[in-house]
Amino acid sequence: MKILVTGGAGYIGSHTCLELLNAGYEVVVLDNLYNSCEESLKRVEKLTGKKISFYEVDLLDVAGMEKLFEAEKPEAVIHFAGLKAVGESCKVPLKYFTNNLSGTINLLNVMEKYNVKKLVFSSSATVYGVQESPAYTEEMKTSSTAVSSPYGRTKLMIEDMLKDICAADPSWNVALLRYFNPIGAHESGEIGEDPQGIPNNLVPYVAKVAIGELDHINVFGDDYETPDGTCIRDYLHVVDLAIGHEKAIVKLNEEPGLVIYNLGTGKGYSVLDVIKSFEDACGKELPKVMAPRRAGDLPEYFSVPAKAEKELGWKAERGIKEMCEDTWRWQSKNPKGYRK
Ligand code: NAD
Ligand code: WQD
Repeated sequence: MKILVTGGAGYIGSHTCLELLNAGYEVVVLDNLYNSCEESLKRVEKLTGKKISFYEVDLLDVAGMEKLFEAEKPEAVIHFAGLKAVGESCKVPLKYFTNNLSGTINLLNVMEKYNVKKLVFSSSATVYGVQESPAYTEEMKTSSTAVSSPYGRTKLMIEDMLKDICAADPSWNVALLRYFNPIGAHESGEIGEDPQGIPNNLVPYVAKVAIGELDHINVFGDDYETPDGTCIRDYLHVVDLAIGHEKAIVKLNEEPGLVIYNLGTGKGYSVLDVIKSFEDACGKELPKVMAPRRAGDLPEYFSVPAKAEKELGWKAERGIKEMCEDTWRWQSKNPKGYRK
């Protein structure tokens, strides 16, 4: 089966391409390389010994996408392409609405034109926003007023659009995958997360402190109502997450209509737990400074992953130790990421 992976050169996309190739799928990638480079795909090809058809095309370029669909005839799409920086989205929301919303609408129109109606969409735990319990289940109500950023709202709006499309036309099959906090890297240390500039997220930031590129970690808030005062999140290994996408494709082949799954471990770790685990992985203590709370952060949330286990047969297998060790292997083997 041939799968189109939009945003396939990026962090989660490249790991997913690797798992798809190893599982015997053919892979076509569309990416404009805004936040990635082709080197990630070359490394995936080397690791798997298989070829990827790569198209440097933007989601806003409908003619470019149509050419790809005509030439490659994909049978399903995994849609990662999008902008994802929460803070930036608050400063330039229109950039996010244009890229993520218009881009996705273009993709859906091209899919409909070429009668490709199987889609896995990269959604996020951010769509839950504020809930009464920190243990998030797929049945919880989502609402745009509870979501804390324009980025998060693009995810929710796309989810809602896809629900409407599936309700109107039962020949569509769509999986909304709500990721919790993906971290880690492939165990080879050859592919991983390669943020440009100063990272926004905790683990890439910690990795850059460990490699000596940044001088200390800022712990955003140590006065939350949690056991150690720092925020708790459900971190999951990117390879487990990638495997979840392959399982979602198997599910879509059963033609289930629209399905929603949390992809997380179900376990929460605090900011200080993660730093400690990273210190163990890199074998040194890392300088850290207690800093004010970051606007928009919730004290604690984690997934209830039971539905994905029951319906997809998917369960995260890798723990926090492997997540940190694999991140450190990637970072120390590639101190400047994919750039030489
Ligand atoms: P990433 O930035 O590494 O990958 C996204 C890829 O999409 C990049 O290669 C980028 O160049 C490409 N892209 C962006 N806009 C495009 C456009 N208009 N046309 C073509 N290509 C475009 O990000 P990631 O961490 O791999 O995330 C992948 C997806 O998962 C995103 O949709 C993100 O919102 C979602 N997600 C990520 C996380 C996370 O913590 N990393 C959590 C939840 C959801
Ligand atoms: C984790 C914890 C910070 C950096 C984000 C998006 C979410 C999803 C996953 C896309 C928080 C603390 C962080 C630092 C710190 N992405 N922190 N110092 O905010 O849980 O989730 O990525 O969909 O939508 O919001 O992840 O890694 O930024 O933060 O203390 O330098 O680490 O305050 O408590 P977050 P994160």
